[in-house]
Amino acid sequence: MSQLLKEKIMQAFLEKSILTGGELEKKLGVTRSAISKVINSLIQDGLNIETIPRKGYKFLDDNDILSKATIDFNIDAKKYGKQIEILDSVDSTNLYLKNLIDANEGYTVIADKQIGGMGRKGRKFISEKGGIYFSILLKPKIEVSDIKFLTFCAALSVAESIKSICGIDVGIKWVNDIFYDSKKLCGISTDATLCLESMTLKSAIIGIGINLHPLSDNDFSDTTQIQNIATDIFSITRQTGFRNKLIAKILSSLEFFIDKLVAGKKLEILSLYKDNICVMGSVVKVIPVNNAEYLARVIGLNDNGELKVNKLTDDKSLSNEIQFLSTEEVSIMVMQDE
Ligand code: BTN
Repeated sequence: MSQLLKEKIMQAFLEKSILTGGELEKKLGVTRSAISKVINSLIQDGLNIETIPRKGYKFLDDNDILSKATIDFNIDAKKYGKQIEILDSVDSTNLYLKNLIDANEGYTVIADKQIGGMGRKGRKFISEKGGIYFSILLKPKIEVSDIKFLTFCAALSVAESIKSICGIDVGIKWVNDIFYDSKKLCGISTDATLCLESMTLKSAIIGIGINLHPLSDNDFSDTTQIQNIATDIFSITRQTGFRNKLIAKILSSLEFFIDKLVAGKKLEILSLYKDNICVMGSVVKVIPVNNAEYLARVIGLNDNGELKVNKLTDDKSLSNEIQFLSTEEVSIMVMQDE
């Protein structure tokens, strides 16, 4: 079955939801019987298309089936998401894209599920069928010292897109997790390749994984209850139909913010990022790479994207010690009920 013809029919339905066989025949230059076969195959894929006898076809819903045509229809970007590969299953979209590093900026790989989804720091990222898992190739002209801003741009794009498409008031847990109600909804990774001679970025792969449906407890140890640490868009909204639109919005928004970064508007990005942070005022456990952990209260974010914290004493009151946490050296864990 021609994938291209399927995408063309989807495109036609996005422009007009009821189409006769004759209209499709004229538009696509193929026979009615070919069209009927493709429509049946789309229905088998899971799309909700009604056949109206002697009239034609009515497109009702994409049922969240990943579709290039739908993403393209909803995207507002010049480079990002203009070349997309959709895979039924892959080890990791990040690994897959690493083999395509010479592709154009904005090349995007999306998978229905990942067998070996990768989180940061060697952790696995559970990627059951039906979630949002994708990686984008970036090649912006920026200095090595500004690479952390790619992470800020990505987290900001995802947070703002989820807010506008799904109507959920999510927040960014510094640096790049998206949280709702103290539970993780989305993880983001940034992998960069550098040109050491010029100390500039060669390319980066941003990987984004969003839970759309509840994760099964099978993926967790007996002691870790998934519902205590993770959440998903369906459990919050009780709605579906966000999948393609949300991917399109994130790609559009990411291009918008990366263009700002390349134009030197770092403070503007940081100010928006700060507005979306959900840890301000919270007590967090600071986990440095090489030193002992400690508790602190978050009190700000400086112009370099470092989190400003006030260290707590052993009896959990504020000390005089202020620390600036850099993205490369520490991670934080938000403490409940502090
Ligand atoms: C984290 O929370 O630690 C980062 C998670 C990043 C997950 C995404 S899903 C798409 C892409 N492919 C991967 O294997 N990882 C990233």
